[in-house]
Parts: sequence; C-alpha cells; structure tokens
Amino acid sequence: MRKKIVAGNWKMNTSFKEAITLIEEIKKSTIPNGIELIVNPPFVYCQPLVQLLKSSTIKLGAQNCSEHQSGAFTGEVAAAMLQSIGVTYVIIGHSERRSFFNEPDETIAKKINQAIHSELCPIFCCGEQLSEREANNHFEIVKTQLENGLFHLSETDFKKVIIAYEPVWAIGTGITATSDQAQEMHQFIRTLVSKHYTHEIADNCSILYGGSCNASNAKELFSKPDVDGGLIGGASLKAADFIAIAHSF
Ligand code: PGA
Repeated sequence: MRKKIVAGNWKMNTSFKEAITLIEEIKKSTIPNGIELIVNPPFVYCQPLVQLLKSSTIKLGAQNCSEHQSGAFTGEVAAAMLQSIGVTYVIIGHSERRSFFNEPDETIAKKINQAIHSELCPIFCCGEQLSEREANNHFEIVKTQLENGLFHLSETDFKKVIIAYEPVWAIGTGITATSDQAQEMHQFIRTLVSKHYTHEIADNCSILYGGSCNASNAKELFSKPDVDGGLIGGASLKAADFIAIAHSF
C-alpha cells in the first residue's frame, strides 16, 4: 500500500549529544497516525539511535551503503551490517553522493541490489540539475536515472523501494520546486513505473519530494496527488520543524 512518509536526512550534521537530544525531542512529539517517520543519521550514530527508538514507531535509515557485500573496502559500510543492527531504510543515489563522490548510475544500481539483498528498504533519489531543467531535459534525466539505477529490479523487489524526487537546484538552496513542478515530475515518475511494472505497483509506490521542503511549504507540496511525503534535509535537524512537516498531510 502507498505510504505517507517523512524522512529526515541529517547529512553530516550533529554531534552525538545533539543527535540524542534531537531523537528524544522527536520521540516525545505526537506523530500523526498513518505516517511513517524515518530518521537517517550519520552511520556512527545508527546503532545507539536504533536502541533509543526500540519502543517507538520511528524508523531508522542510513544515508548510504557500500556497493559491495563485504571484504577489503576500507572505510565502507555494508548494507548487511546496517541490517544487522536494526536499520531498516537506506538512502541511495542522493545527489551529493552522485556529484561529490562521483557515483554513477551503475554504482547506484549495485547499492540498490545490496540493500535489497540485505532486506533494507532503499530510498532511491533522482533529480535534475538546474542547467538540465533550463534545457528542458529534466524528464529525460530522471527517466535515465530510474532506468539505469532502479528498473532492473524484479516486481517483487521494486515493491520495497521508495523513490525521492529531489531537484538538485532545490537542495539546501531555499528554492523549493513549486507544488505544480513537483506534481508534474511525480506523475511522470509514476507513469514510468506503471509502464515498466504494473499500474498497481505504480499506484502503491511512495514518491517523496525533497529540496528545501520545510514546515511552511510542506502542506502545499503534500496536497498534490502524487506527492506522498518528503525527504527533508535542513528542516529535519529541528524536532519542531520535522514534526510540523509530519503534520502537513
Ligand atoms: P534540504 O535537503 O531539505 O536541506 O534541501 C534535502 C536533501 O538533500 O535530501
């Protein structure tokens, strides 16, 4: 079934003390029924936060995982390791990974496979650069990202995936896509999913919007029929803002 989801991407922020405080504040807030709330802290905080969230409905995700299963890959973290400590989600293909760490679609596809193999639920990110939108190539860019990174999955595996559309020009810039721009792309993505898989699978797929989504604009964005929630960066670092977003459906 299609879920309404708000996922916080903490990126490389917070001290351990701040992370604990943030989680405690989120935990004591009222989370609306039927909303899946996910926090994605840095790797090093995953294990202690899993413990803190044991009695809560809040889920824990990582921000990345290795494309390899195990072995001599110094500094990497395997999907299976994350799963073994109680992590349930993993962000894959974030634009910061694609651009700063040169992750091509092929690597992203391998990470998706690792996540699925380890029974983690991938949050697959896609989105165009500003120049690509200005050149009217945004649909083609997102289509290629989906085809190369995700659509190799079988129907059974694809059903475990969440998609996040994050226009790169909106990430961390304070410039949010309009709700119409978001809806237009989300509808396009859902149609692609329907063509590659089935209408039913597309209808059940959660597609999140990310990019300067905050407590003031979430309601308008989430009011669109194909926007099933948000992947939230900056605004997920303040419990009150993050929770206000979860109340914006
Ligand atoms: P932002 O980041 O909300 O700070 O724009 C979103 C993201 O990168 O996932």
